[in-house]
Amino acid sequence: MKEKLQKIREEAMSKIQESDALESLNEIRIAYLGKKGELTEVLKGMKNVAPEERPQVGQMVNDTRKAIEEALEAMKAKHAAAKREQQLKEEVIDVTLPAKKSKVGHRHPNTIALEELQRIFVGMGYSVVEGPEVEYDYYNFEALNIPANHPAKDEQDTFYVTSDIVLRTQTSPVQVHEMEKGVLPIRMIAPGRVFRSDEVDATHSPSFHQVEGLVIDKNITFADLKGTLQQFAQEMFGPETKVKFRPHHFQFTEPSAEVDITCFKCGGKGCRMCKGSGWIEILGCGMVHPRVLEMSNIDPNEYQGFAFGIGLERIALLKYEIDDMRLLYENDERFLKQF
Ligand code: DAH
Repeated sequence: MKEKLQKIREEAMSKIQESDALESLNEIRIAYLGKKGELTEVLKGMKNVAPEERPQVGQMVNDTRKAIEEALEAMKAKHAAAKREQQLKEEVIDVTLPAKKSKVGHRHPNTIALEELQRIFVGMGYSVVEGPEVEYDYYNFEALNIPANHPAKDEQDTFYVTSDIVLRTQTSPVQVHEMEKGVLPIRMIAPGRVFRSDEVDATHSPSFHQVEGLVIDKNITFADLKGTLQQFAQEMFGPETKVKFRPHHFQFTEPSAEVDITCFKCGGKGCRMCKGSGWIEILGCGMVHPRVLEMSNIDPNEYQGFAFGIGLERIALLKYEIDDMRLLYENDERFLKQF
């Protein structure tokens, strides 16, 4: 029996030493220590051992088991360490390799124009506010003195969501939201997207951007409007720029005007840019109609105001001498890269 145990021990030890991977260690464990393993078989033969020798043989079996277990553990640790070493070698990272250069994008011409415009008006004490793109008919038309069935409504080819909800055709409804807040005076600009069911061409798109302006205070006159917009035009298009106010009609302003600036390309002599006239139209404006003030609970005898609406794309196209509005929406990198 002693010899048998000794043999098992030696055999197991040499197998463990020869094992080349973690997996084979497990096989060895099962072969010697498992339920049907060799050592277990020896234990089963204990009943044939003389009673007085049993403690000694039992002790030997335990010693053998312990020795094999320890050898297995030691080898397991060795294999694990080797495996890890191998892995570290294979996965080595060269931290000195130069990094990939990531592409940095840049701002869209619309955004550049808007940021410039905001800088100018914020510098004059205006705050920048926003309003919803999906709007009640009331805010888009009615509260701006464009009643149901009024022909002015047809000029704006509206997208209807329901019979009384529209995609706003202009940023002017933001004026009404601001006035309804009841906090006076107001000095705000409201940039945003607007929608009209127009066909796409070089100067039209079903979705474009406007910047609304509104000032409400005591003793505001048309002179304030003129001075403000002249200042804006000169900062935006250069100090030589002259402005011209042409009488016009808008439902929500009285009197109303359209503003032209001297062509910044030819300085007013006439060129391709201004179609030979020397002037370029940039916005609509006027003194806020008393009815519009009243509908928003502002007393027109106490407060007056002016408003203006600028087409953002128009400003971007002019400033960067782009001759087709579609270029602004196509996101062609070759085009955008130039700004
Ligand atoms: N909402 C007008 C449009 O889309 C533009 C406009 C004109 C806005 C005059 C104004 C204004 O605030 O006073 O055609």
